[in-house]
Order: sequence, then C-alpha cells, then structure tokens
Amino acid sequence: MKVLLINGSPHAQGCTYTALSEVAAALEADGVNTELWQIGQMDVRGCIACHRCRELGKCVFDDAVNQAQEKLRLCDGLIVGSPVYYASANATLTAFLDRLFFSCGAMLAHKPAAAVVSARRAGTTATLDQLNKYFMLSQMPVVSSQYWNMVHGNSAQEVLQDQEGLQIMRTLGHNMAWLLRCMEAGKAAGVPLPPQEERVGTNFIR
Ligand SMILES: Cc1cc2nc3c(=O)[nH]c(=O)nc-3n(C[C@H](O)[C@H](O)[C@H](O)COP(=O)(O)O)c2cc1C
Repeated sequence: MKVLLINGSPHAQGCTYTALSEVAAALEADGVNTELWQIGQMDVRGCIACHRCRELGKCVFDDAVNQAQEKLRLCDGLIVGSPVYYASANATLTAFLDRLFFSCGAMLAHKPAAAVVSARRAGTTATLDQLNKYFMLSQMPVVSSQYWNMVHGNSAQEVLQDQEGLQIMRTLGHNMAWLLRCMEAGKAAGVPLPPQEERVGTNFIR
C-alpha cells in the first residue's frame, strides 16, 4: 500500500513539510509506503476550461498535473498539504488541484484522502474546507483525526513545538493506514465497490 503526500508550499522543508513528515512517519510505522512530493516551486498554470481533458484523459498542459495522475494511479491514498495564504490554500496548489481533479477526478474515486494545513495564526478551517471539497466531489473517503488537521507556526522549528498539532498529524496517519487495511481486507473478502448511477447534471437554468 502506498500514500502520496503532495506539498503545495514553496518551502521544501517548511511548516507544511514538517506536518506532512509526521503523517508520513505514522503511515510508514504502520507498514504503508509513502512518497512526499513537493510542487510548491513548480510553474503550474491555472485551468483554462478548454475541456480537452474529457477527450484526452489528461490535461493539455503536460506538466506536474499529468505527472500526478501517473503517480496517483499507483497510490491507494492521498494527503494534500497547504500553507494558509489569506485564509485559503496557496495559489500554486489551487491551480494544481483544479486541473488535477478536473482532468482525472473520476480515477480518484474511493481512494481515501485528507488535507493538512499550516498557518501562522488563522484561516486554517476555511482552507481545510476548501481542500476537502476536492475530495468530496470525487467520492474520496475523507480521513479524519482527533481535531481538524492543522499545525501552527511560521517556521519548521515553531511547528515542532506545536505538540498538539504533531499528535493530530500522527493520528491522521494511523487512521489513514487503518482505513487502507480495512479496504484491502474488504477487497479480499469480495466486498464490491458501490453501484454508480449514470450522472445527472442539473445546471439550474430554466
Ligand atoms: C502570501 C502569504 C499569505 C499568508 N496568509 C496567512 C493567513 O491568512 N493566515 C496565517 O495564519 N498565516 C498566513 N501566512 C503564513 C503562512 O501560512 C505560515 O507561515 C505557514 O505555516 C507557512 O508554511 P510553509 O513553511 O510550509 O510554507 C501567509 C504567508 C504568505 C507568504
């Protein structure tokens, strides 16, 4: 079993990385492989709503978003980490997730996911809400912890002092590992995936 952890922060070893590393350590301790992938310094443009991904099965801009699709095909779970910028996820990560979920959201169905945020002070729950919406639109079971998944600090050293935040990260990692094992056991026991209805789209235009 493998979980991909995507870090939207431009800081390779900053606060979000410190939080994600704690989640990854708990997953590894429970026998789940992890890959921590830093995308925050990449040049990721926003979605241009061309809808070509419907034909191509991938984005027209062949960058980290299409690489993510390949990585996620081989993963059983996803954790997305973001620093809080003006009470939202940072712009690079938002552009990345818009294009990723628009181009391959269906492929992510039934893979457990969670978001993790880091902030100096405020805007954490709004950012978690924003990130969880990607998962909830794509039939991804959202994994929880003992509190909302946040750490506080303006540097990695400060995050390491946030003992409660680090415990929240460890609990999240253990909960993700447990759910993955349950799903694996379910698959082995022949539990089928839930039925999928043909999708109804109602645009509220009369
Ligand atoms: C452009 C920008 C906007 C920010 N906005 C917020 C904010 O709304 N609330 C907050 O508490 N911290 C804010 N911060 C601070 C970062 O969220 C915080 O330092 C975070 O832990 C950095 O994570 P990183 O080291 O992984 O990049 C902001 C930082 C930047 C650069």
